[in-house]
Amino acid sequence: MAGSAPHDPNDLGRRRGDSVTLSCVSIEILGPKEIEKMRLAGKAAASTLKHVGERLRPGMSTLDIDALVRAHTKETGGKPSQLGYHGFPATVCTSRNEVVCHGIPNAKEILKEGDIVNVDVTTDLNGFHGDCSATFVIGEASEDAKKIARVARECRDAGIAAVKEGARLGDIGAVIEAHAKKNGCSVVRDFGGHGIGRKMHMDPHVPHYADPGKGVRLKAGMAITIEPMVNLGRSDIEVLDDDWTVVTVDRKLSAQFEHTVIVTREGHEITTLLPAP
Ligand code: MF3
Ligand code: CO
Ligand code: CO
Repeated sequence: MAGSAPHDPNDLGRRRGDSVTLSCVSIEILGPKEIEKMRLAGKAAASTLKHVGERLRPGMSTLDIDALVRAHTKETGGKPSQLGYHGFPATVCTSRNEVVCHGIPNAKEILKEGDIVNVDVTTDLNGFHGDCSATFVIGEASEDAKKIARVARECRDAGIAAVKEGARLGDIGAVIEAHAKKNGCSVVRDFGGHGIGRKMHMDPHVPHYADPGKGVRLKAGMAITIEPMVNLGRSDIEVLDDDWTVVTVDRKLSAQFEHTVIVTREGHEITTLLPAP
C-alpha cells in the first residue's frame, strides 16, 4: 500500500469479471460500465483532495484535515476507503516533511509555514475506488521543500506518460527512477502503486524503480495507481512504533503525488483529474 507493499497477502481477494492471470497474479480488466464507475469514483476523490488543498493554512492540525475529508467525502456520496483499512484509524493519510506515507492525522500535529504535507484521499463510490494524493507546500518554504514537491510531481507525471497497452511495469518504474536520479533525489522501494477497482488495493504491485523489461505487461482496461514517494536524501525508510507512519531513515524530506489511471489502447485515462473549471 501506499501505496502497496510488494506482497500483501490480505489483498488477494476474489475477482469478478474478466481477468488475466500472469504468474499467479490475477488482474481485472474493466469493461465500459466499470470504467464509467471508476470515472465517478476518481472524480469524487479528486474533488475532496482539491477541497482540502484549498483550505490548508499554517496553524491547522492534521486532524483538521481528517475532518475536512470526512465531511467532504460524505458530500460526494462516497465513503473514505482508508478508514478501518487493516485498522487504519482515519479517513485520510497526512504525511508531513520526513513522513513518506501513512501518516495518521493528529490534533497535536500543527502545520507551520515552510512545511510540506501529503494528503492522500481514497474514495469508495458505489463499490469502485479513486485514489489520489498531492504534496502541498505551506506558505513560504525552503528551496529544498519546493524542489522535492516539484520532483515528486514530475516523477508521477513522467510515469503516467509511459502508461499504455503493452508497456511493462518495470519500464514505467525506470522512467520514474531516472527522473528522480537526474534531480539528485531517490525513490522509495518498499512501497509502490497498486491495482485498483472494486478494492482500493489489488494486484499488481506497481514499483516506482527501474526493472527494465520486467513486470506485468499492461492491457487496456487495467486500472493502477502511479504514486512515487521521492526522497531528498536516501531511499531507506522505517516504520514508527505506531505501526503505520513511514519515515525516511535520514529524516530528510519526502514528497508524493498520486493518480489513478486506466490503461487504454492509445495510452491511459486519469480518473482522478478534475476537468479545468
Ligand atoms: N491511499 C493509500 C494508497 O495510496 C492507501 C493507504 S492505506 C491506509 O495506496 F490504510 F494507510 F490508509
Ligand atoms: Co494508492
Ligand atoms: Co493513495
